[in-house]
Amino acid sequence: MDITGRLVRLRPVRPDDAPRMVESLADPRVVYHLAHWALLPYSLEQAQQWVANDQPDALRWAIECLADGEYVGGTGLHNISHFNRHCGFGIWIGPPERWGRGYGTETCKLAVEYAFRHLAMEKVSLFVFSGNDRARRSYEKAGFVSEGVMRREFWRDGDLVDVETMAVFRDNPVYAERIAISGA
Ligand SMILES: CC(C)(COP(=O)(O)OP(=O)(O)OC[C@H]1O[C@@H](n2cnc3c(N)ncnc32)[C@H](O)[C@@H]1OP(=O)(O)O)[C@@H](O)C(=O)NCCC(=O)NCCS
Repeated sequence: MDITGRLVRLRPVRPDDAPRMVESLADPRVVYHLAHWALLPYSLEQAQQWVANDQPDALRWAIECLADGEYVGGTGLHNISHFNRHCGFGIWIGPPERWGRGYGTETCKLAVEYAFRHLAMEKVSLFVFSGNDRARRSYEKAGFVSEGVMRREFWRDGDLVDVETMAVFRDNPVYAERIAISGA
């Protein structure tokens, strides 16, 4: 299912996204704040396999820029638990020339709204590495608040970095009104 905003469209991932993924994830600036899966050299075969294999408890979307139709990244909801009404959120946008145009914030809002409206989630959460202030700012704009910091949690570049967990709830004003209007 496509989700269209003002700046971006979220659409299902396609096989022809794989080369673009590899190109963007080869940029150290894009992967620096991502988990270990992205820190290793990411091959075309890996990307093709990832695109081909759906996970039962996850939803993945490609992010397309509405202005030019270009693939500008990936996002998704993972660890979807209907029992706990909770899931995780992840995002990357590349190349970096695409940053700072509002795509990240809008993508986050669209995916989170989908989680509340269509998956009946109560809570969406994420992890953000210490120092990733751009991501943190965009998450705050999408209603996320800090739930705490796991200190010295993630090994990167010969050091252990702190990882913050952030969450947004269904009754957050950013979403509550829109969900109520839709009757969900
Ligand atoms: C994180 C990411 C998704 C954000 O997307 P984006 O399109 O750049 O975000 P937006 O343009 O919507 O918002 C960024 C906000 O951060 C602000 N910002 C930029 N650099 C900043 C900094 N160093 N400190 C604080 N805020 C900063 C921008 O000004 C903007 O806020 P504003 O609209 O109030 O001015 C994108 O930069 C990215 O993919 N980065 C690499 C991968 C990554 O870090 N993924 C997230 C892992 S948790």
